[in-house]
Amino acid sequence: MGVLFSAPQAEFAIIKEKWLEEVEQLAKSGVFVGGVRVDQFESAFADFTGVKKAVGVANGTEAICLALKALRIGPGDEVITATNTFIATVEAIHNTGAKPVLVDCDPDTFLIDIEQAKKSKTAKTKAVIPVHLYGQIVDMTELLPWAEKERVHVVEDCAQAAGARFHDTAAGNFGIAGCFSFFPDKNLGAVGDGGMVVTSSDDLALLVKKLRNHGGDGRYKHEIAGTNSRLDPIQAVALKLKLGYLNEWNARRREIAGFYEKHLGALEGVILPKHRRDESHIFHLYVVRVNPELRETLKKQLLKKGVLTAIQYPSPVHLTDAFAFLGYQPGDFPVAERYAREIISLPMNITVTEQDVEFIASIVKEVLGKG
Ligand SMILES: Cc1ncc(COP(=O)(O)O)c(C=O)c1O
Repeated sequence: MGVLFSAPQAEFAIIKEKWLEEVEQLAKSGVFVGGVRVDQFESAFADFTGVKKAVGVANGTEAICLALKALRIGPGDEVITATNTFIATVEAIHNTGAKPVLVDCDPDTFLIDIEQAKKSKTAKTKAVIPVHLYGQIVDMTELLPWAEKERVHVVEDCAQAAGARFHDTAAGNFGIAGCFSFFPDKNLGAVGDGGMVVTSSDDLALLVKKLRNHGGDGRYKHEIAGTNSRLDPIQAVALKLKLGYLNEWNARRREIAGFYEKHLGALEGVILPKHRRDESHIFHLYVVRVNPELRETLKKQLLKKGVLTAIQYPSPVHLTDAFAFLGYQPGDFPVAERYAREIISLPMNITVTEQDVEFIASIVKEVLGKG
């Protein structure tokens, strides 16, 4: 018996026929970049998220980078984010020329430590990026009033949170911009790379549109120095088809999280993720904490039985070689550092059954000596 970690292939099987039909039409039309299919997905995604505008881009890293650039953030500016994120959040800040300022995470939720973010503000701070890590929305009721008072932009990293809702409002709606990744294993994943910036500001949307397309919103009109960072129509077709299933698939993931709680909840030695028990967590990942001395054995034992796991992420960004130049030291962010040693992501995707979870739980119990 094997259990997949993520299952983009299973999702693809569901949309395959319609996708092939549309791609055939696309091939006949010869429009392989831009076109009506991208426009259609952008408006479908804007409606789904409840924002005014959605601008498709090449990937999630670019979504963050272009949103920041459109806010005219660059050299000399500072942008605050959590050190326990996928490195892309910090790369995107760095790629604008601004300085990433990192903070620790909250010990209960893994999400950005809002108090520390507030304390890290300087005269150079232009934006804060709350990362809705693992699919759970950061408590925006705390962050937004502060950011507004301090005139700091909030740019949400929604890469892992497509379809998550906090008090009925979807991720991407809270800040001036929301940035999504459609990497294939995301809750809304393309058949390759893809990303999106959503915003309710017409001006910001237009600027991102220009930035993604060589600085102009049309051919050979180069008003500003931009780049090539477009979402292609083959991805847009897949994404629009999958968007129709997203709420159902997110609900399924929450159900699977419930299975983990049922079968691992009482086990000493495994700390399960805390969440608000509403739609504000869509469980992109199911990350638990265990004794670091047992983690490797657990991972190996699970693998032996065909259960794939991952460590997301093995190092907080401040301790990566890439960002050593920022000058942070081990011990600067103790919660994130400790969690990096303890975390293990268990299988979470639409194919996981309660039987799979029982099987995984039996191995976990065995390794932790409670079998
Ligand atoms: C939290 C976070 N931010 C940003 C990104 C970047 O997205 P992409 O891989 O599409 O560039 C990812 C994707 O892996 C992510 O998980």
